[in-house]
Amino acid sequence: MLDKINKYIGEVAQFNATKINEIENFRVKFIGSKGIIKNLFGEFKDVPNNEKKLVGKALNELKNAAAEKVKTSIEALESAQGEKGIYGDLTRPGAPVEIGARHPISIVKNKIAAIFSRIGFTVSEGPEIEDDWHNFTALNLPEYHPARDMQDTFFVEKNPDLLLRTHTSSVQVRYMNEHKPPIRIISPGRVFRNEDISARAHCIFHQVEGLYIDTDVSFADLKQTLLYFTKELFGKSKIRLRPSFFPFTEPSAEVDIYWGLETETDYRITKGTGWLEIMGCGMVDPNVLKNANIDSEKYTGFAFGMGIERIAMLLYQIPDIRMFYENDVKFLEQFKAES
Ligand code: DAH
Repeated sequence: MLDKINKYIGEVAQFNATKINEIENFRVKFIGSKGIIKNLFGEFKDVPNNEKKLVGKALNELKNAAAEKVKTSIEALESAQGEKGIYGDLTRPGAPVEIGARHPISIVKNKIAAIFSRIGFTVSEGPEIEDDWHNFTALNLPEYHPARDMQDTFFVEKNPDLLLRTHTSSVQVRYMNEHKPPIRIISPGRVFRNEDISARAHCIFHQVEGLYIDTDVSFADLKQTLLYFTKELFGKSKIRLRPSFFPFTEPSAEVDIYWGLETETDYRITKGTGWLEIMGCGMVDPNVLKNANIDSEKYTGFAFGMGIERIAMLLYQIPDIRMFYENDVKFLEQFKAES
């Protein structure tokens, strides 16, 4: 037994590790709960009494040597790896997790939806490929109505009754066909117009349509709703309604917000007036209600529609509408904080 122990003492003295797992294997082999030393202590009871003193001494020597070897090996490894130690430098900054950003159109759409949801509006969406009835006729825009020219349309070649919707007002019609008043919805979505692309116009853009129908809905309700909305979104509470024309509302108005004239940019974007147009609106034309089988004697309502790109350009001072569609990461990642 003494020979065996001395052989192990030799092995321990020889041991030299360059990796942490080698040290761990060594530790398990010698000091582990099923390791060599534990076994030797088990055999110790069978050692003849006269040898016990010598063998015991050697065994303790082996035990201490193995423990010491583990300790010094770890220390050597740590110092070999310099400041980093075997676990690396624990004070180093963590590796950042790359997070993406929502697209500014989605950010603004979500803001608008959140503002209206607080006053009871839910979101309703409709198809991008529409038929003539939902996009035009039911909205008081019969065939050959001159106002159709306001929205240059992409038609589906094989079926001229189908088109890419020119506005999200079409969702109003779909919703009114399926739901009885009271109705309180907003309809965000993509719309299409056959227009030349420039810094201010695109053939694909996004709108949010709003519709509120109930008994006794008045123009004052419309104005109050718009006031609430502009205050929440822009933090500005001065608006004005300019008389305008839309076939689906009567009376109709365009909403201007007072942007101010404090900076040069204010001057530029408001053309020196301080006012900016942000949306169209009006009281739902009784013909539109009738087309959806809603009793226009009993119910009234208001509607409004706005372009999301336009609002996003104002909120974030984006000078060119084309930037929304170029997917330039340098542009998009600026919206991380808003996502
Ligand atoms: N649909 C109109 C457009 O695309 C926007 C609009 C104006 C919607 C007035 C409305 C409204 O609901 O009342 O230009």
